[in-house]
Amino acid sequence: MRSVIDIKDLSTQEIEQIITVAEDIIKNPDKYAHKCSGKKLATLFFEPSTRTRLSFEAAMYELGGNVLSMSDAGSSSASKGESVADTAKVISCYADIIAMRHPKEGAPLVAATNASVPVINAGDGGHNHPTQTLADLLTIHREKGHFDNLTVGLCGDLKFGRTVHSLINALSRYKGINFVLISPEELKIPSYVKNEIKKCGLEYVQTKDLLEYMPKLDILYMTRVQKERFFNEEDYLRLKDSYILTPEKLATAKSDLCIMHPLPRVNEISVAVDKDPRACYFKQVLNGKFMRMALMLKLLGLED
Ligand code: NCD
Repeated sequence: MRSVIDIKDLSTQEIEQIITVAEDIIKNPDKYAHKCSGKKLATLFFEPSTRTRLSFEAAMYELGGNVLSMSDAGSSSASKGESVADTAKVISCYADIIAMRHPKEGAPLVAATNASVPVINAGDGGHNHPTQTLADLLTIHREKGHFDNLTVGLCGDLKFGRTVHSLINALSRYKGINFVLISPEELKIPSYVKNEIKKCGLEYVQTKDLLEYMPKLDILYMTRVQKERFFNEEDYLRLKDSYILTPEKLATAKSDLCIMHPLPRVNEISVAVDKDPRACYFKQVLNGKFMRMALMLKLLGLED
């Protein structure tokens, strides 16, 4: 059974095929409107989410399939003490594919090992978020037309930001990528992610200073400080507004900079930036739906 728990579960060629299918869905939505008729997606979300869960659900509906949704962990059998393994076995009897979000790192992997249908990790703790990376990659592909030789700034909570960890893994496969890792000391990227960059022979710098590197960036990926992963409120309050992107701060940026954010935004990007043609974060949301459609077709064996 083919599941996607980590972006590493997809080869570069497979990611590029998923992009090709997503582009075709954008051009020819009618061709895909009934592809999943008779199929059911179960969304099991043990952690708050709006866009990711609704994105999966919209994706399945647009493919002509149906959805079984669990969005409130408190009302599920997990609150009675059911294990993730048992939940996965039970839901496999109802659905053809599962999307799972869980606060514990590794929970979707446990689900995949026990399910008899494909499981997609929709975010596990501070670890991984492969389908957000697919959304990010389609956005970069559509805005830049290529992945090689880009200077990519990742800014904010690089420690707990799971979207950053998955995106770095995917982009590290390409030639000439330069990473600029911008964060406060306490929210620096974990060493295992830095090691992945080094293993690929790519360059990175670590800095606290967004403005110094602004003129060099092709992509600026802003992130929210992940409040829910902090052990104490005081640290969160001290760090939460470390970076706030404003039109003034973009004065030295390239005219074709691509500004991204996985959303939800708190204060990291001032709403005044939304009018800037370089702001791509709402396009990212739409791209996420198309990539989830393409991924589900692949995992259900319904790709042409
Ligand atoms: C991200 C997540 O859940 O990790 N959101 C999302 O899925 N679009 C980012 C975040 O919550 O900050």
